[in-house]
Parts: sequence; C-alpha cells; structure tokens
Amino acid sequence: MKLDKYIKTACLLLPFCVVSCDTNKGNDKDAEMNKFVSDLMSKMTLEEKIGQSTLISSWWDVTGPVSNNDYAHKAKDGHVGGFFNALTCDFLYRLQKEVVENSRLGIPLMFGYDVIHGYKTTFPTPLAMSSSWDMEMVELAARSMAEEAAADGLHWAFAPMVDIARDPRWGRVAEGAGEDTFLGSEIARAQVRGIQGENFADTATLIACVKHFAAYGAPVGGRDYNSVDMSERQLREFYLPPYKAAVDEGCQTVMCAFNDINGVPATTNKWLMTDVLRDEWGFDGMIVTDYTGIFELTNHKTVRDSADAGAQAIRAGVDMDMQSAIFMNYSKENYEKGLISMEDIDRACRNVLNMKYKLGLFEDPYRYCDTMRAKRVLKHPKFFKASHEVAKRSIVLLKNDNEVLPISKNTKTIALIGPMATNKRNHLGTWHTAGREETVTPIYEAFLKEFPDSRIIVEDGCWYEGDDRSKFAKAVAAVRQADVVVMCMGEQEFESGEAASKTDIRLAKIQRDLIDEVAKVNKPMVLLLHNGRPMVLTDEEKKFDAILEVWHLGSMAGPAIADVVSGDHNPSGKLTMSFPRSVGQIPVYYNYLNTGRPENVNVRFTSRYLDSPNSPLYPFGYGLSYTSFSYSNIELDKDSMTKDGVIKATVKVTNTGKRDGDEVVQMYIGDQVASVSRPLKELKGFKKVNIPAGKTVDVTFEITDELLKFYNADMVRDSEPGDFDLYIGGSSQTGNKTVFTLK
Ligand code: NOJ
Repeated sequence: MKLDKYIKTACLLLPFCVVSCDTNKGNDKDAEMNKFVSDLMSKMTLEEKIGQSTLISSWWDVTGPVSNNDYAHKAKDGHVGGFFNALTCDFLYRLQKEVVENSRLGIPLMFGYDVIHGYKTTFPTPLAMSSSWDMEMVELAARSMAEEAAADGLHWAFAPMVDIARDPRWGRVAEGAGEDTFLGSEIARAQVRGIQGENFADTATLIACVKHFAAYGAPVGGRDYNSVDMSERQLREFYLPPYKAAVDEGCQTVMCAFNDINGVPATTNKWLMTDVLRDEWGFDGMIVTDYTGIFELTNHKTVRDSADAGAQAIRAGVDMDMQSAIFMNYSKENYEKGLISMEDIDRACRNVLNMKYKLGLFEDPYRYCDTMRAKRVLKHPKFFKASHEVAKRSIVLLKNDNEVLPISKNTKTIALIGPMATNKRNHLGTWHTAGREETVTPIYEAFLKEFPDSRIIVEDGCWYEGDDRSKFAKAVAAVRQADVVVMCMGEQEFESGEAASKTDIRLAKIQRDLIDEVAKVNKPMVLLLHNGRPMVLTDEEKKFDAILEVWHLGSMAGPAIADVVSGDHNPSGKLTMSFPRSVGQIPVYYNYLNTGRPENVNVRFTSRYLDSPNSPLYPFGYGLSYTSFSYSNIELDKDSMTKDGVIKATVKVTNTGKRDGDEVVQMYIGDQVASVSRPLKELKGFKKVNIPAGKTVDVTFEITDELLKFYNADMVRDSEPGDFDLYIGGSSQTGNKTVFTLK
C-alpha cells in the first residue's frame, strides 16, 4: 500500500481513533484498536511483522556499545519498528516521512529516548529527587521532562527506573529511588503519572517504560551487569513491588534487565515476563529488551547462538528487540524451522502496533513533530522554575553543628572552595542526555546574586581527581580571609550511573587532602557534597560543621543550593538510601531481617562487626532542618482491628524552632511474630507537612490489613494475626513507638 492509500485508511479510521485515544484508562475502545491492528496485520508480510519488533539506535546519542550497521534502508522497507537516540523534531519528522512514504504499508515509527531526569532542561537525578519525599514534585519533574521531550518529536521515555538498590557501589543507584520498596512504589506511580499523563495520545506526554525488569539493582558485588542471586521471597517482597506499582498505574511498556536472576537471564525469563508480569499482574502493554540484551545472551552462555537467543527471547515474552537486530535477522529462519510460532511473532508485532495506535500515530504519524511548538516549548522558563523547585526540595541537611547554616546575608567574606564551585557540567548528573551545560547556573554565579553584600572568594583548590596540589596554597589563602568556608566537593557526573560501579566510594584522595589543608585554618566549614550515590564520609564528616547533600541537581543547581545555604529555603529532604560508614558494611539498609543473635556490642557472639557498628553513618529517612520538630506519643483510635478494619494512628508534630519548616513524617511497622522472619520495621506511610514556627499539627495515618501483608511460609501474600510495632517519627531510627493488634 502506498502512502495515499495508507492515509485513506487512516482517515477513514480517524473518528474512531480520536475516541479510542481519548483516555489512558478504561478498555471500552480496546476492541476498535484490536480491529484496526488485526486489519493491518492481515496485510503484513512475515518480514514486516518481524520488523515491528525491531528497535534500533540512531547516532545522536550513544547509550551503549556502538555498531556500524546502517538500518536506514531497512526502515524504509518497513523492517524497523522504531528508533531511539534519534533527536530533534526536524530530524524525526524527516525520518518518519522517509518510512511512511516509502515503505509498503507506511506504518509509522516510534521514537524512544532516555528521558530520565529531564530533556533539554535537566532536573535533579532520580535518587536526589526521591529525597524530597514529595510526590507532587516527582510528578512535576516527570511531567515537565515528558512535555519537553514530546515537543521535540519523541514518543517514548525509557523511564522510570524503579530498581531497589542497597549497594552504593553500584553506580546506577543514582537513577532510582533508593532502598525502600514502599517509597519506591509511590515514586514509581508518580513518575508514570507524570510521564504518561491522562491521555496517551496527548502530544505533551510520552509513553513510559518501567525498568529494569527485574532486580537489576541487586548485582553481586555491586558490579554493573553482574548476576543476581535472590530467593523468590526477597524478590517478591522487596524488589518486584515498584515494577508492579508502575504497571498498576498504567505504565505501557516494560524493559528487561541485563542480569540473570538465579541463572536465568531476564531477557529469556518466561517466569518473569509471562507468568508474573502478564498472567499474575495482567500487564497488556509491550516488553522491550535492554540495549543488545538478546545479543548478550551468547555471553551469558544460556543460548547456543544468536538464532537460539532470538528464539528463546520471543518465546519467553519479549516483544521488541533493542539494538541486537536478532529478531530482524533470525526470526524468519526460526519460524521456518519451527523454533518459534506465528503466535509469538504476531503477539510481539501486535503489542508494538498497539503502542503506535495509542500514541495516535496511525491518525497522524507527524503529530509530535511540530517545529513551531518545539521552538515555543524547549527550554521554556516554566521547566527551569520547576527544576529549581524540585532541586531545593531534594537537598538533605546531614549535619549542622552550632547552626553554622544558614549563612547570614550579612557575612563579610565567604570562601567558595573546590572543583564544583564554578563547574557547570557535573551538576547535570548521570542521564542528562540532551541536557547541556549552558543550561546550568553554577554555584559561584548563584552565590553572587544570593549574597550581594558579601565578598565571595572562589578557588578550585584542586580538580576532582589526580594529584595536582599546585592550587592548594591559593585555596588556603582564600580561606584565611573568610568568615566561613563552603567546600564544593564530590563526584563528576560520569562517576555514577550506568557502568560506574566503584569499590571506593569516598571522596577522591586529592579532595580529602584539600579538606585537610583547609581544616587546619580553623574556620567554620560547610561541605556541599555533589554525588550520584551515597558516599563514605566517615572521616570527612568530623572535619565539617555542616554538610549539605546536594547531589547532582541539574540546570538550577546553583540557585537551589544558594537558596538553602542562605536560608531562603529551609531544607526538608530525607535520605532514601543509607550512607555506610565503610564499604565493608555494604549492603547496609534499614529494613533488614531479625536474626537469632541481634547485635550487642558487649557480647562477642552476636551479629556484628568487630571494627564497626552495624548502623550506617546516616540512615534511611534521615535529614535535618533549620528548625526542629518534636513528636508526641502515638495515639490510636483503637488498639486492635480485624482484617477488614482500620486503625487511625495520630501524632502531634510541633515545630519547636524559630523558622517555618517542612517535615517528612514517616510511619514504620514491624511484625512482632510471623511465620517467616520479617524486617525489624518497614516504611508503610509518610506525609510531608508544612509546620509554621511554634505551631503543632496532627498527622494521621490509616493502618489497613493491606499494609500488614507479606509472603508467608507458604509464599501466599497475606497478613497474620498478632501484635505489631508501630513507629512514627522523623527517620527510620525513630524510637517513638506503640503496639497494635491484628485479630
Ligand atoms: C542501557 C540502559 O541499561 C537502559 O537503562 C537504557 O534505557 C538503554 N541503555 C537505552 O539507552
């Protein structure tokens, strides 16, 4: 069929299409989509069907190993379903046109990209954003990046990444929401809502892709791409819920993880993709591999060759092959040899075509490509405003002795020391993709505005790494003249993220040495810590009066940091991943299981280290404010409930300081006795509340049976009657506790 014919078909279908694309929720119009796709598939050749299952990287961005193949001609023949890493409205329009006008059926392409924490405007890295515990902010960031990316012609974001991670050696912790399943699930939902919006066909939204299914965040030794060895109980209890939350929220696509789980690569894991995802959870969207995931099966050595890899992957449930071109090259042969069925090929093709239908691409293949809109929307001030808001709320105050922070605007001289003081690029963080350093306001520039009456002396002192100490002396001289010193230290953007595992997660030696030299001058010292992952700060922590965890905050890093340093914004972030005291403690996380010999530092034969406490330096849920909060005892409206009942638990939280502030009130529950060993406590609710200075607010949580369920001894998810410890406070270490009973 030539384009004119195709357009005719599309136009005939237009009235149905518009209605069918009208909402993301509800299945009333599925029948129309199914009919459209079935009609289309009845006209497709085997090669064309296989082509829809092929996703190829373009050259605009490099997010994995590069190959020299040029697939443009394959696309023109209708043998490619989509491209990723292809950018700009103009280019995507031309690419789409080539395919729509030249291929036999004119089936439009789908364009994906790693829209992870921003597009042109960069937001804080996801781990940073999670520290806001602010679902409105997380959703705003996701909505903004989707709107900006969609305005540049993209359809599909490879986000959210919801991999639970307890090992900060793994660089990709920067891309997720930290160590907790409950919080991770809430954030997954907010991200999906933000990216997809209410209507898939809305050209200001993208289709989301939850990844990396599954348990990619638990590689052995924290080494990226490594194996995952995990019991089904661990997997179901702690690692799977955030993916499920995303699916329940309507996430349309799922990306397989690179790793194997207990020996079976996720890319060929039928149990995961078909039994759990499709049959148990009812997922009816599309499954895509990760970058060359099928090709890499030959390295896993679970397949004989590429053909076998392709056959195993599609049979297990993969719909779209990212970058391996193995479906493209071997599916026909596999089918002819009877290794895969027409049902496999049809299912995969249909699931891809469904996405295109939902995006409204059959109605108008160019609907996302509007260059005038791109001009209006890209880098719109509203995104910078949103990024600034999110960035402020992502900052975590880790230490503040003698109220060194905030720094008064009357301060005479501030020394701004360290490689991050003037740097722009590293604020962009790991997946800045289309983001560029010219969008970033650096710290120095922001301080000049924030402290107009102060003298700001800026000195790098050193680079992030290496051993050039030639600038130490100048830095120390600047510090001597200052009333307070702010050190801007940490990791570069590429030191966390994909393929960025580390065995040493301290600050680089050169930075530690500079800190030592500066500390000798004996001035009040503030550390601004820039990083993608929790770091080991045990030695440095003692040298600073105050520490602000400022992550990689994106385009508006400088102004957000300046707001917090000056006190214009009172910090309220709380950690979502524990900061270990040493690498030897890893994995360290708050919701560990009870053991038979709990830690007792006075008893040798207990579960502990001889040379370190078990506790982290900074625990999950921890973060200070410029004000202080006190918590009343927990009041229950009743102290027992049946499975269909509800208990209301209330605390009075008082702002006991002199500034208004936000507090993240956290509720944890621990099962006193269960048929299997359970975590000491688990986060089961949180609320972020604003409390004016001197005021008290009531914060109430509802406890339902759903919050008490777990995989019991028979691997059935259920609750068990008995007593539960209930904690409500300002961190995972709160001692504010009561007990209730499930009858
Ligand atoms: C590999 C990464 O694991 C994945 O998260 C990303 O979406 C793809 N590359 C595409 O760039």
